[in-house]
Amino acid sequence: MTDTLKIEKTSERTIHPARNLLGTLRLPGDKSISHRYALLSAMSKGSSRFKNFSTGADCASSLDCMRQLGAKVTRSGDTVEVEGCAGTLTPPGGLLDCGNSGSTMRMFTLEGDASLNRRPMERVRKPLLEMGASIHLRDGHAPIEIQGAKLHGIAYRTPVPSAQVKTALLFAGLQAAGTTTVTEAVRTRDHGELALRAFGAEVQRTTDSVTIAGGQKLHGIEATVPGDMSSAAFFLCAAALFPESSLVFDQLGMNPTRATLLDVLTALGAKIHVLNLEENQGELIGSVQLTAPSQGLGSTEIRGALAAQLIDELPVLAAIGPYTRGGIRIRDARELRVKESDRIALVARNLRAMGAEVEEFEDGLDVPGGQRLHGAVVDSDGDHRIAMAFAVAALRAEGDTLIQGADAAAISFPEFFALLDQVTER
Ligand code: S3P
Repeated sequence: MTDTLKIEKTSERTIHPARNLLGTLRLPGDKSISHRYALLSAMSKGSSRFKNFSTGADCASSLDCMRQLGAKVTRSGDTVEVEGCAGTLTPPGGLLDCGNSGSTMRMFTLEGDASLNRRPMERVRKPLLEMGASIHLRDGHAPIEIQGAKLHGIAYRTPVPSAQVKTALLFAGLQAAGTTTVTEAVRTRDHGELALRAFGAEVQRTTDSVTIAGGQKLHGIEATVPGDMSSAAFFLCAAALFPESSLVFDQLGMNPTRATLLDVLTALGAKIHVLNLEENQGELIGSVQLTAPSQGLGSTEIRGALAAQLIDELPVLAAIGPYTRGGIRIRDARELRVKESDRIALVARNLRAMGAEVEEFEDGLDVPGGQRLHGAVVDSDGDHRIAMAFAVAALRAEGDTLIQGADAAAISFPEFFALLDQVTER
């Protein structure tokens, strides 16, 4: 049985303008946390059970790979059970197909779809080689070939802030002799560290580094995966555009390394209330209410550490930029060019198609405020976050917008368009 959803990249959706967004949403589980739980539960002794596991195709790719490596995975709706291999994975019979999932590939191995096969993998190969791994790439990209080898711990400073690379090295560190330390200039999302602790590993942290000793054994856990903040971002940004809007999110992931968007929206003038904070397996979960500002959104500049922390939210922030009063400026976000698509170029192209003025930089965008956009034909280029970002931009445009490749949304958030319809008043 395979969990992997085949994404129809040629699908089209028409988005009509909206009046406001109202309602309460409970979103599917966080994609980053679901990947890590899939991988660590497969490595653990005993069984694990996850409620509200991500429904996205990317996390289904991780589960499929774990199955091929010998874990027993069963899924019923959003509940996933994994019977782990107690540290001994079986070499797969063939290639491990990661679909479109960068996390699956960087945290383990292997081969992906056309877009993933273009993404840079040298950043993870280099430190793994230092640890003694035997890894071959084709021109710096997947498919990746790995032969079993004895690993030893290293101290490594990540040259580009990347939670995926940090997590890969910590997971490899668990299998290595000695200790592995990863130091980063910008603190990236820490779900890997929290998940390792939840599964029973000891992890030491300082403000800018994480250390793990090799040879520790993991045990299965039960967890509820918090709602995905990066999915909520599309609804938060959409609601912030309409003065009459009010949205509530129940059981949303509130990990501080992921919640920077709430600060940005507050700085733009939205009112955010956080209620009922609780913790599950080290991850914060809470209810969030957003009320849109009656005078419209102000302006903001995102650069430096903020750009790394908001990396997955930048496309939608840029997409609402024209509707702010003072515009949105983004810098130090060169990494956007090597995501599922070149997100800087694609955001600029689609905004221009809708009649916006936008300036593109090597590492960001200037999107002036006070603009009126018109409906247009825009293209996701198979990139889930672009499809959803432009569904949001389309809500405030004059006339209908046709999104080509709209079903790419299912890579992280298959329910997106249905939920958007549910909370949008027209
Ligand atoms: C992720 C980290 C980010 C992010 C990706 C998921 C993760 O990538 O863009 O969607 O789960 O660690 P990088 O760490 O490569 O920047």
